[in-house]
Amino acid sequence: MERLIIAGGDPLEGSIRISGAKNAALPILAASLLGDGPSFISNIPHLHDITTTMELLGRMGVGLTVDERMCIEVDPTTLTDPFAPYDLVKTMRASILVLGPLLARFGRADVSLPGGCAIGTRPVNLHVEGLRAMGAEIDVSGGYVRARCKRLRGARLIMDLVTVTGTENLMMAASLAEGETVIENAAREPEVVDLADYLNAMGAHVEGAGTDTIRIQGVERLAGTHYAVLPDRVETGTYLVAGAITGGRVLIKDTRPPLLEAVIAKLEEAGARIRSGDDWIELAMPGAKRPRAVSLRTAPYPGFPTDMQAQFCALNAVAEGVGMVSETVFENRFMHVNEMQRMGADIRLEGRTAVSTGVDRLTGAPVMATDLRASASLVLAGLVADGETYVDRIYHIDRGYECIEEKLAQLGARIRRVPA
Ligand code: UD1
Repeated sequence: MERLIIAGGDPLEGSIRISGAKNAALPILAASLLGDGPSFISNIPHLHDITTTMELLGRMGVGLTVDERMCIEVDPTTLTDPFAPYDLVKTMRASILVLGPLLARFGRADVSLPGGCAIGTRPVNLHVEGLRAMGAEIDVSGGYVRARCKRLRGARLIMDLVTVTGTENLMMAASLAEGETVIENAAREPEVVDLADYLNAMGAHVEGAGTDTIRIQGVERLAGTHYAVLPDRVETGTYLVAGAITGGRVLIKDTRPPLLEAVIAKLEEAGARIRSGDDWIELAMPGAKRPRAVSLRTAPYPGFPTDMQAQFCALNAVAEGVGMVSETVFENRFMHVNEMQRMGADIRLEGRTAVSTGVDRLTGAPVMATDLRASASLVLAGLVADGETYVDRIYHIDRGYECIEEKLAQLGARIRRVPA
């Protein structure tokens, strides 16, 4: 086990490059199962969730070759066993993304149920119901989803609620189904669009990704292709908050500013001055003063992302004034609040809203990471705390932030990784 030690107090200054988006790379790697030849996926972030996905695909017999720049060749033609076991799925819920592709391409899939996690129950009923509507026979028992079909049939799928990986699973399955599938109330996240672009590069006919209605004309076969994953908007947002919370100035390169509109609007409300170009964003805090507290509600894209909620709780903890952060996507995503309170934050939970009265400074303390984004928020809090903050269980951070301590150090933070 390892921990991060952060010595707070310095404004961050400098520039960093953003990695490929985890939440796009995972479905794209799963979608490469649909091809009848190898795909070459580049701009893959070096993350624990990617290693888990590779282990998952490797155990199925898929051929994998990684070059020194994290371009991965995925050859699904050697697959022997369409099986995703519990020991891997329990460490990464997104493993459920192999269900749709395996079923559509190989006619069968046995995928462990992900179970609960730190931020709520997170069921996969909508993935299963959608595949059933497309003609799959699915038995959910013994902790596994066991799915069988001849060829899936296109269907009209009206999603009860907006689900990102649910939309992705069904979109992948529909690409090889017979006839047209229409997904209504589809997730509009940029990672869904990136997956659709990848599928279309393989020869699929997907239209409407990025809107709430996606139409897929099934095709008989998909080919392997070359594809570069889009930049990570959550990583981008996290480093922007790092600049704002420390009263610094950061330049974020290799990103896509239009994907962060909701986040940038809140940073401006907090007092940040933002400039951006095609693939960069610069944030400065004029006067290097404390940010102003902001209020927000998380919502599916293009609303404010739930994956940025914890980082804004950290910002509000040291901001001037009172900020209210409401979580509407997940039922229990405030585990970071307790830890921030241990650092001196004045935050009160009222149902699904965190009401925070900003304090002048936080105090360094030993804290525990509970999930991926919560752990990033504790690192941010550590950057503005007096003394040293020890963040334990950082395997959560390594699931989703490539080289976090190197990138923060490049911005001038005093942060180091040590054995716990
Ligand atoms: C994805 C992202 C995650 C992000 C989340 C919301 C990936 C790999 N992960 O997770 O980082 O926080 O979107 O933006 O892309 N739900 C059901 N039944 C289902 C599916 C979902 O009730 O079958 C509920 C969930 O419990 C949750 C809500 O729908 O309350 C949204 O979850 P969903 O969009 O599915 O999240 P993920 O796709 O797991």
